[in-house]
Amino acid sequence: MKALVTGGAGFIGSHMVDRLVGEGREVRVIDNLSSGEQRLGFLKTAGVEVDRLDIREVQSAKLIESFRPDEIYHFAAQMDVRRSVVDPIYDADVNVLGTLTILGAAAKVGARVITASSGGCIYGEADPDRFPLDEQTPKNPDSPYGITKSVMEDYLRFYKSVSGLQYANLALGNVYGPRQDPAGEAGVVAIFGLRLLKGEPCYIFGDGTQTRDYVYVGDVIQAFFAASCKGEGETFNIGTGLQTSVNDLYGILAEICGVDAEPEYKPARAGELARSCLNSAKAGRLLGWSPQKNLDDGLAETVEFLRTQL
Ligand SMILES: NC(=O)c1ccc[n+]([C@@H]2O[C@H](COP(=O)([O-])OP(=O)(O)OC[C@H]3O[C@@H](n4cnc5c(N)ncnc54)[C@H](O)[C@@H]3O)[C@@H](O)[C@H]2O)c1
Repeated sequence: MKALVTGGAGFIGSHMVDRLVGEGREVRVIDNLSSGEQRLGFLKTAGVEVDRLDIREVQSAKLIESFRPDEIYHFAAQMDVRRSVVDPIYDADVNVLGTLTILGAAAKVGARVITASSGGCIYGEADPDRFPLDEQTPKNPDSPYGITKSVMEDYLRFYKSVSGLQYANLALGNVYGPRQDPAGEAGVVAIFGLRLLKGEPCYIFGDGTQTRDYVYVGDVIQAFFAASCKGEGETFNIGTGLQTSVNDLYGILAEICGVDAEPEYKPARAGELARSCLNSAKAGRLLGWSPQKNLDDGLAETVEFLRTQL
């Protein structure tokens, strides 16, 4: 079996590459290395070469047409919410036009596509009575990034109906774990972890009661792998169903790092979601997936990794 990973030098993509190599897949990676350069060593260890291409380039489609993968795991994206607000055109260029390049080529060669969406950003500020949010939650993206991730699902349906594209779309919670980037959606884990290890102060924006659904990267990889052969034409929320406040996250990380300093509070940032939490019962039913790693253990492993990066 042949697998192609876009954004394979990224945080989640590089773990996906390891899993696919371990499963005996022949793997190729498309990545423009806009943020993944520091993870090239992991790909080298896995024995996988990176094709340094942008997903918007026609060469990416050509590579897919010549390699003819059975599966495409699509992670490459502009994934900075704040950048999407400042530059929605760039966000749409990468996340819409780049994704269409990949979907069009996948449809041409008959590859199954498994895409990474964002459960926090596509549902936006949802009705409090609906938590944890399932896939029936009305989409209410409140950033260009959330809009482009939401529209990806519409395009997947379009390609399925006109070209028979096979796909599964995974709407992820806040993914954390070794190799994560402080700029990512669960970047606060890496930011707090690194600052605590260095003895630097940590800042919390707002009162720290805002919650997120932190899901461990190893669990997320298992969901993608399961979706390579199950859940045809479906979107799945991939999270733990548990909300953790920034205050509690800081407390756990401070304890793991052996620090007893209090965080410093700064004014809340405009537009930040008050809460985010996903119901993954559908993934349980159709993919046989459920999160396995509890937050304390996952954070301890992440801190161990961050120590090696100092
Ligand atoms: N990390 C999270 O918490 C989280 C949550 C929800 C959804 N997601 C989604 O999961 C996917 C992977 O996230 P991640 O945390 O691994 O991000 P990441 O930034 O670590 O990885 C993205 C990779 O894509 C590459 N890339 C960016 N633009 C590209 C382009 N135009 N052409 C080719 N390569 C390009 C980058 O160099 C990087 O290696 C993204 O689609 C993201 O939107 C992530």
